[in-house]
Amino acid sequence: MPGDKSMSHRALILGGMADGVTRIRGLLEGDDVLRTAVAVGALGAGTERVGPGEWIVRGAKWQSPAAPIDCGNSGTAARLLMGAVAGFPISATFTGDASLSSRPMERVLGPLRSMGARTEGSTLPLTIHGGGLTGIRFMNEKASAQVKSAILLAGLRADGEVDVIEPAPSRDHTENMLRQFGCEVVTERSRIALGQHRSLIGTDVTIAGDPSSAAFPIVAALIVPGSQVTVRNVMLNPLRAGLLITLREMGAGIQVKNERIEGGEPVADLAVATSSLSGVEVPAHRAPSMIDEYPILAVAAAFAEGRTVMHGLAELRVKESDRLAAIVAGLLECGVEAREEGDSLIVEGRGAPPRAAVTYRLITIIASR
Ligand code: S3P
Repeated sequence: MPGDKSMSHRALILGGMADGVTRIRGLLEGDDVLRTAVAVGALGAGTERVGPGEWIVRGAKWQSPAAPIDCGNSGTAARLLMGAVAGFPISATFTGDASLSSRPMERVLGPLRSMGARTEGSTLPLTIHGGGLTGIRFMNEKASAQVKSAILLAGLRADGEVDVIEPAPSRDHTENMLRQFGCEVVTERSRIALGQHRSLIGTDVTIAGDPSSAAFPIVAALIVPGSQVTVRNVMLNPLRAGLLITLREMGAGIQVKNERIEGGEPVADLAVATSSLSGVEVPAHRAPSMIDEYPILAVAAAFAEGRTVMHGLAELRVKESDRLAAIVAGLLECGVEAREEGDSLIVEGRGAPPRAAVTYRLITIIASR
């Protein structure tokens, strides 16, 4: 699998803020992450691509960028960079595409203001005036890693205690990577606190393979008859592993092989074989650990025998699209019975490929003759 997107953004941002040089291997070079690379450069750090996925970042004291920072489609770029910028005595304007410009930013701007930043605008385009921050004890209403990360990044340059309390644990790549850069971070159950020592020293970072990207070949192997597929280099951080737990509950045959630690994260190769799947109930508390995987889980559910109910999906409505509505519309289009009920998604599996899949298979068989 290519490098994890969440880790890739963080490696560039932390490298750009650190003292000295950071060498990154396995960076995901998709548009979202490249926006972060350009932004970190515009804020004064040195960024150089020295090979495929291999980057050198020279950290600097950030300066006001000459032009607005265009985050494209990336919520992670926007929210994490806003937090990092807020710590410096600089101003930066953030812009993005139509989708990002309609997504909620107050969840980050509110706490940053409480720490002392000034903000103009509540959706993109918006401007942050940073510097002179004080600490915060923040109760995160949502299990959002982007919000948590923005506060921790701002907190690196704040005076006083900085801690975030989460309703449920969200992905912890920021905490893990901050520690790799030498910063003290304490995690006690649902509370994450920065320690006294908050300076960052440039380091070598290896990005583990993206479990959210791996989700697609894994589900494809499960539902396509006769498959036997090994997906190599998949990060198995427990806060990202909700899909694997759910697929196994559905009856998926997935073997974990060659377990190792890479870039501070557990990584393995996954051997996946076609499996008969059954519908399950996915509890709301699992949502943060598989928030980007519900669209492909819904596809697996459409091939399963029986009803799958997925709870606690309110956050899916404020992603790059309203993913809840988009999943239902896509499944209905393929002849699958699916509906929203409050913040839950219900998919009726018939234990057989849905109409669209049968049609697709017939077309491929005819075409191959
Ligand atoms: C991400 C956190 C999640 C996730 C997104 C990446 C991150 O968003 O959906 O794709 O890298 O921190 P929220 O923090 O809004 O849940």
